[in-house]
Amino acid sequence: MYSDKVMDHFMNPRNVGEIENPDAVGQVGNPKCGDIMKMYLRIENDVITDVKFKTFGCGSAIATSSMATEIIKGKTIKEALRLTNSAVADALDGLPPVKMHCSVLAEQAVKSAIYDYATKNDLYFEELEGFD
Ligand code: FES
Ligand code: FES
Repeated sequence: MYSDKVMDHFMNPRNVGEIENPDAVGQVGNPKCGDIMKMYLRIENDVITDVKFKTFGCGSAIATSSMATEIIKGKTIKEALRLTNSAVADALDGLPPVKMHCSVLAEQAVKSAIYDYATKNDLYFEELEGFD
């Protein structure tokens, strides 16, 4: 039912934890199940140099958070904003259809953290239009 990559990222999630004095923090909840994901970013010159996450949720939410942190590390904020939940799921070699909603949490957590950064630094990103 689950790909090897999903199992790997669930059993050995990357970038778990918190960043002290982060440049941005995002938190989102999944309205479908009540699971929660928190994401911390270190940002230098618009580049995400470090990222950590904590997810209180199901295995798919943990695996997608882990994969999302790996994808956005080293990317610019603009590139990270283009990350979609289906890209995260694809990077994990797919998720069962009933678990696709879990990947939405990862995309939203990234956007929520960057929204926090944009708000603090007076930046505008059209990708965040209507997001809060
Ligand atoms: Fe059951 Fe998230 S709703 S693990
Ligand atoms: Fe809630 Fe997966 S079941 S995020």
